[in-house]
Amino acid sequence: MLNHPQISLHRLLLSVSRAVDQVHPSVADHQQRVAYMATSIARQLGIKGADLLDVFQAALLHDIGLITPEIRIAAARLRDLESIAWHSEVGYQLLKTSSLFAGAAAILRDHHVPWGHGAGATKNGRAVPLAAHIITLADKIETSIDRDVPILEQVSSINEQVIAGSGEMFHPECVDAFLEVASRESFWLDVVTTHIGSLLTDRIDWPVLTIDEASLGPVAEIFGRLVDLASPWTAVHSAGVTATAAALARLMHFSPREQQLMRAAGYLHDIGKLSVPSAILDKPGKLTREEFLVVKAHTYHTYHILEAIGGLTQVSEWAAFHHERLDGRGYPFHLGDDELTLGSRIMAVADVLTAITEDRPYRKGMDRAEAMSVINKLVDKGGLDGQVVRVLEAHYDEIVDERQLVQAEYGAMQSILTNIVQGPADAHQSVLAGVGNAIT
Ligand SMILES: [Fe+2]
Ligand SMILES: [Fe+2]
Ligand SMILES: [Fe+2]
Repeated sequence: MLNHPQISLHRLLLSVSRAVDQVHPSVADHQQRVAYMATSIARQLGIKGADLLDVFQAALLHDIGLITPEIRIAAARLRDLESIAWHSEVGYQLLKTSSLFAGAAAILRDHHVPWGHGAGATKNGRAVPLAAHIITLADKIETSIDRDVPILEQVSSINEQVIAGSGEMFHPECVDAFLEVASRESFWLDVVTTHIGSLLTDRIDWPVLTIDEASLGPVAEIFGRLVDLASPWTAVHSAGVTATAAALARLMHFSPREQQLMRAAGYLHDIGKLSVPSAILDKPGKLTREEFLVVKAHTYHTYHILEAIGGLTQVSEWAAFHHERLDGRGYPFHLGDDELTLGSRIMAVADVLTAITEDRPYRKGMDRAEAMSVINKLVDKGGLDGQVVRVLEAHYDEIVDERQLVQAEYGAMQSILTNIVQGPADAHQSVLAGVGNAIT
């Protein structure tokens, strides 16, 4: 009898939040720090239970709409946030696809609305939740911390800035609650601790929030969409890999439960790419050696992001081993024949097939004959699994039709998200130009 482990939603969100911010020391743990401050302020305001949980989730993911490492780093240095206002809407559209995050999505949508002496109580005719104003405040405080100066030396100047912004920028009630909690040195030391993740999980007494394997898929899809948004060339890639891997798993008699896990693994297989700069993902030519080394780390990150959640061993392995090869020449773990399970072999084939049949900046997608010849060569060289590839060959049209159907549906929503991002494309470019090449 297989056991059905429950997956901690908190740990999942914490792990993704950390991954999004792990792109540069200047933004490391940004969202977790904001989550700590926002929940402290919210509790001071008497917010509790499910409402407090919404504040926590919204704060933890408030900047996921900043879709590339470059934009995330640039955003932390911007004074005027108008040019990146679209990221709140992207985050909202992504999260609202799951009922688990409905409350958090509505908060995160308005996390850059100034109070404006009361004008910020509404935006575009809808009420702005108080929780959004809490995050606006916590976000501003976090970005004003100088990471090179001991925190307690900065407290009075930060407090002065907050007081000066009360009314115009910040909701006065939030400011009062903040000043109350910020009177303790421990608050500030908590904010900057390198253990902020375990502090958020262990010390705060959250109700245990778990999801089962059936609800994991839609949550995984949200983060697959996020990964895919980072480059127009991969806009529907994760969905393609997911559909292909799930079809192969079904054809190879995986149980319905394992097919569900395979779908989650498909959406999450490239989650480690959240830290790969889009300049590399979008590069129109061959990657330099250094750039390729950055790319090579992505499956290592995928593994650790998923492993940190706990209870997802199979999903972590199926997702993260897609660049491993049976002859041990893959990366980054160099696993071999005896260590790669059938699920991982399926994912490797699904990823290769999807990647080579998609257009890329430096080449057109291959047709069936070309693709199968490339894949069969990889089998002959001892890289890919021959048994999986025989199933692919026997059901090629069925699998590709299924994939295209899934990708078309997925792609409709991806286009909506891309339009929100691309709307202010010029502004977007000038944001990056203004802060220089942020990745150093
Ligand atoms: Fe933001
Ligand atoms: Fe932020
Ligand atoms: Fe991939």
